[in-house]
Amino acid sequence: DGEMCKYYADGEWKKSSSGKSVPIINPTSRKTQYKVQACTQEEVNKVMDTAKSAQKSWAKTPLWKRAELLHKAAALLKEHKAPIAECLVKEIAKPAKDSVTEVVRSGDLISYCAEEGVRILGEGKFLVSDSFPGNERTKYCLTSKIPLGVVLAIPPFNYPVNLAVSKIAPALIAGNSLVLKPPTQGAVSCLHMVYCFHLAGFPKGLISCVTGKGSEIGDFLTMHPGVNCISFTGGDTGISISKKAGMIPLQMELGGKDACIVLEDADLDLVASNIIKGGFSYSGQRCTAVKVVLVMESVADALVEKVKAKVAKLTVGPPENNCDITPVVTESSANYIEGLVKDAKEKGATFCQEYRREGNLIWPLLLDNVRPDMRIAWEEPFGPVLPVIRINSVEEGIHHCNASNFGLQGCVFTKDVNKAILISDAMETGTVQINSAPARGPDHFPFQGIKDSGIGSQGITNSINMMTKVKTTVINLP
Ligand code: G3H
Repeated sequence: DGEMCKYYADGEWKKSSSGKSVPIINPTSRKTQYKVQACTQEEVNKVMDTAKSAQKSWAKTPLWKRAELLHKAAALLKEHKAPIAECLVKEIAKPAKDSVTEVVRSGDLISYCAEEGVRILGEGKFLVSDSFPGNERTKYCLTSKIPLGVVLAIPPFNYPVNLAVSKIAPALIAGNSLVLKPPTQGAVSCLHMVYCFHLAGFPKGLISCVTGKGSEIGDFLTMHPGVNCISFTGGDTGISISKKAGMIPLQMELGGKDACIVLEDADLDLVASNIIKGGFSYSGQRCTAVKVVLVMESVADALVEKVKAKVAKLTVGPPENNCDITPVVTESSANYIEGLVKDAKEKGATFCQEYRREGNLIWPLLLDNVRPDMRIAWEEPFGPVLPVIRINSVEEGIHHCNASNFGLQGCVFTKDVNKAILISDAMETGTVQINSAPARGPDHFPFQGIKDSGIGSQGITNSINMMTKVKTTVINLP
C-alpha cells in the first residue's frame, strides 16, 4: 500500500519523528502509490538552522566550484531520467515520453544556469562620482551581487522536477542555500531529483527537502523568519503566501487564462495544431495552456471544424501508454472541471464532443459558442476542456483578454506582423506569442505574469538576479 519515502535534511535521509505520513495517490489507479514523511514544525526549524549555517560557507565557495557541482548534478539527473520519469508517470500521470523530456530539460536548465551564473555573477560594476552634479571624482563605487541567504522553493505538481530545479539551480549558483517543499503529487519525483544533488556532493544542509501536510508546515515554512526569499509556482495559494510573507523578495508564478486570438487572415491549420498542442498537452494542466480561444466569427466555423478533427485523433488513456490525454491529477480537480462543464451546458454552450469521464480521466472537450456569463469563460479548468468564444472585432478579443484577473501569456495568429505587434502591446499579459501557442520555454527566456498571474520574472537570468542583492563598497579618496 505504497512505498515509504524519507525526507532529506542535513545531508541525510530521515524518517519524521511524527511517525505519520502523507499518501500519494496514483491519479490513474486512484490507489496509494507512495507515502512521504509528514514532517513536523520542529523538523522545519532544524532544517532552517542547518540551511542558514551551510549557506555561510557556500557563499565563500568559489563561483566556478559551485558551477562544477551543478554540472555534476545535471549529469546525474540525466543519468537517472528513467526512474524519475517513472515516478512522474505514477504520481502525476504525465505521459511517459513527456516525463523523460521533463527530466532532460531540467538537466539542461541546471547546466545553463551554472554557465550563466559564472558569467553574470563574475561581473560587477565600477562607478565614479563626478557624473552626478556637485561631485568631484573622489568616490569610486564597486558593486557586486551577493546571495540573499536561504531560498524557499515551492514547485507545483505539473512540473515537480523542472519547476523545482528552475528555483534550485539559480539559488545555488548565486550562493544561497535551498529548502524545497515539494507538492504532494510529485513529492517522490522531487526527492529522487534531490538524490541526484546529494550524489553530486553538495555540502550537508545546503539543500533540504521537507515533505508534509500544508496545514501543518505550509504557513510555518512560508512565514518562517529564517527564509530570505520565496520562489513559488502554483495556484491561489501564492496570493495568500504573498500577503503573509515578510519583507523578503518573492517570485510567484500563479494561474493563467491564456487567450488565443485568431484573426481573419490567420493560417487556420497552424492555429488548429497550436490549439491542440497548447490546449491539450498534458491534458491542459499547464499554467501556459491555451485556456480560451477568441476567434473572429467569419473564420470560426472553419477553425472549429479543424480543431474538432484533431481532437478526434487524440488518444485517451493511461500515461504508461503515452496517451495524449491522461487522468487529471486528483479527483477534486476532475470534479472542479466537471463543474465548469455542467455550468457551460446549462448556459447553452455547444458541445463539439460528448462529455465523458471515468474516474480522473476526462475526454478532451471543445466548447463552442461560449459566452461571458459562463464560468469557463474566466476560470481555468486545468484540464482537457477548451472554450471557444466567437468575436466580431479584434477589440472585443483584447477586451476579453484584459478583463481577466490573470495576465500570464497570450497568443495571436495573423499573417500581418504589424497588427500582431499592436495587439501584443494592447494585451495585458507577461508574454504574447505571435503565431504560436503560449509556452514558458526556452528556459532562458524571461517568464512572468501580471495581475493575479504573479510577481517578478523568471527565466534563468532573471531568477539568478532575483536571488541576489546588490552590495556596494565605496572608496573615498582624500
Ligand atoms: O505550468 C506552468 C509552467 O511554467 C508551464 O511551462 O510552458 O513549459 O509548459 P511550459
